[in-house]
Amino acid sequence: MIDLRSDTVTRPSPGMWEAMSHAELGDDVFGDDPTVNRLQEVAARLLGKEDALFVPSGTMGNEVAIHGHTRPGDRILVAADAHVIAHETGAPAVISGVLVESIPARRGILDPDCIVAAIPAPDIHVAAPSLLCVENTSNSGGGSVYPLQTLDALAALARDRGLRTHMDGARIFNAQVASGIPAARIARGWDSVTFCLSKGLGCPVGSVLCGTRAWIAHARRIRKMLGGGMRQVGILAAAGLYALEHHVDRLAEDHVRARRLYEGLRSQGWGAEQSETNMVYLQVPNALALADALMEAGVACCALAPDRLRLVTHLDLGDADVEEAIAIFGKLRCR
Ligand SMILES: Cc1ncc(COP(=O)(O)O)c(C=O)c1O
Repeated sequence: MIDLRSDTVTRPSPGMWEAMSHAELGDDVFGDDPTVNRLQEVAARLLGKEDALFVPSGTMGNEVAIHGHTRPGDRILVAADAHVIAHETGAPAVISGVLVESIPARRGILDPDCIVAAIPAPDIHVAAPSLLCVENTSNSGGGSVYPLQTLDALAALARDRGLRTHMDGARIFNAQVASGIPAARIARGWDSVTFCLSKGLGCPVGSVLCGTRAWIAHARRIRKMLGGGMRQVGILAAAGLYALEHHVDRLAEDHVRARRLYEGLRSQGWGAEQSETNMVYLQVPNALALADALMEAGVACCALAPDRLRLVTHLDLGDADVEEAIAIFGKLRCR
């Protein structure tokens, strides 16, 4: 099976297993797991923040952030179809009691003018916006990368209007590799940023939430409240440290393979959307039926909408897998 469903499907590489099996461990709820502490220090440095917190998932990272930046009854501004709206089971409403305003965004990229328009004048009747969230890269936007100027303009605008800012950087290292701009620069100006170790970086579990020292102390309490306090979790933090050292630059290979997939499918007449990173979306009349036919032929992918299929490249795919997937698509096209 050629698994193109997500970049989350990878298995630890032999080097990663080795690092995990030799991890120095402690009880992280007491703050004494040295491997977790090292991962948090490295992550904070790479993201240009004072401190960081290891969390079990990207979803928990986002939800801790939303809870940590808002009060019940606040409004948060998020691009339509962003993960926090579309794929976190309504958690911002349930956990934080906030109103989520979905802002139309082209390829998942928010336009500062739309944010200006979405911020109402102070009014006793209105749920006041207190947080702006962006997703970089944008998953539903096809792995699109925020232009740095737009990010900086959004952060400055939010600051001017008294809003806090959170970046869902689940795939921020794909953005770093695609743009050549260091993650710390991308995240500059944002109060908090999460990134996932369990996606393109190839770890089995884990995300990291970064911010100021004081705010991360607050976030640590929220993580505990949500049941996210973990014990001898250095075993997973070791995988994260290994990934940050060995699996960042190689994301470029995933981007080249996604590009090849796009070109191959395009040349067969499929409505493929061009990707800057590791995702290719296909516009098709019946995505569910096509996903079933592909599965039978040996390619797994996700129908994320009735007319949209997503293909994702990752660490466990080689050039030959991509060529074979293109050939299988070609056979289905000829049927
Ligand atoms: C952009 C984005 N943010 C957050 C998440 C959530 O990550 P997790 O599955 O670890 O909860 C995902 C997962 O696919 C994602 O694509």
